[in-house]
Amino acid sequence: MATVLAVLTSGRRQGFTSRLLAAAVAGLESVDGVSADVLHTHDFGFGPCDSCFACVRDPAHVCVLDDDFGRGGEGEIFQRLQNANGLLIADPVHNWSPSASARLFIERCYPFIWSGGLRGMPAGSISCASNQGMQREAMRELCKWLFGLRTRYVGGLDAHVAQFDAASQQASALGTALGKAALRDAQRGRDKWSDTDCFTHYATQAPWNALEPYIENLTRGAMMASKSVMQEALADETFENPEAVEHLKLAQEEFQHTIPYYHVGDMEQANASLVKASAHWTKATWLEFLQDQVIGADQPENYRPLPDEDD
Ligand SMILES: Cc1cc2nc3c(=O)[nH]c(=O)nc-3n(C[C@H](O)[C@H](O)[C@H](O)COP(=O)(O)O)c2cc1C
Repeated sequence: MATVLAVLTSGRRQGFTSRLLAAAVAGLESVDGVSADVLHTHDFGFGPCDSCFACVRDPAHVCVLDDDFGRGGEGEIFQRLQNANGLLIADPVHNWSPSASARLFIERCYPFIWSGGLRGMPAGSISCASNQGMQREAMRELCKWLFGLRTRYVGGLDAHVAQFDAASQQASALGTALGKAALRDAQRGRDKWSDTDCFTHYATQAPWNALEPYIENLTRGAMMASKSVMQEALADETFENPEAVEHLKLAQEEFQHTIPYYHVGDMEQANASLVKASAHWTKATWLEFLQDQVIGADQPENYRPLPDEDD
């Protein structure tokens, strides 16, 4: 039996978003052996992450906050998510973006980034607008967050209530696709899902992909390897930790391959190269800025594995 955690983040229990979630749940449960575990975030008490980083230091990677997402891994939301074979978030569009409740939910999934507990879990999202819209913006943002958790994005729905009937049908189809993926997860165990798999999947099958924004951020908009933050940090000798400097060099070396692939449109190679460059960049910044000064722990194995570990 597979369970999909179906999360409603709208304050309106019987509103448009909840009706689309109901259609998705019907689709999910049309798959034999799949049931939905519907969770309404407004029924629970949990606030923003405190940035204490206890979840990184703790080898079990659980949250210490005394609320429904924490309690050392005993919090009800944490438990229900950990035990699921899939995740669906149904969210109203607020301020041209996902709602604060959805943001809170994702932020509190931070411990799973270290444990790898959601890596490869099938996931989907519904963004529901009723006024000006911007439901596609909101869908892309949710997709980005689900990428960050390394879930396997099965699909996203950008719904406007102006086309409510069509959106309901699409929600049902999304539910069915997610239900099938969750059933596979329950029957065969979670698929192995490397960072390279993940970047490539989002680049080809999702409404948001990391490549361009990542390059843009690493080059502060210049889209040239010679203008990267790595290159500037090397030139200015701003990193002091010798191991961090080594990773900075490796990041820059690899990034010099990423950009030409990107410019000639070889997105597969560009993504593969970016995964390597960004893993070294992550490691360099972890060693230089986080390990001793902020977190007090080594970088967990599941988080941005280095190229030779990412398989
Ligand atoms: C704080 C807030 C911000 C909102 N911002 C938007 C918006 O940017 N675009 C939009 O189309 N609707 C917006 N709405 C309307 C909701 O998206 C609307 O409620 C939507 O239909 C979601 O369904 P539900 O509230 O019935 O669950 C907003 C509502 C609230 C409460």
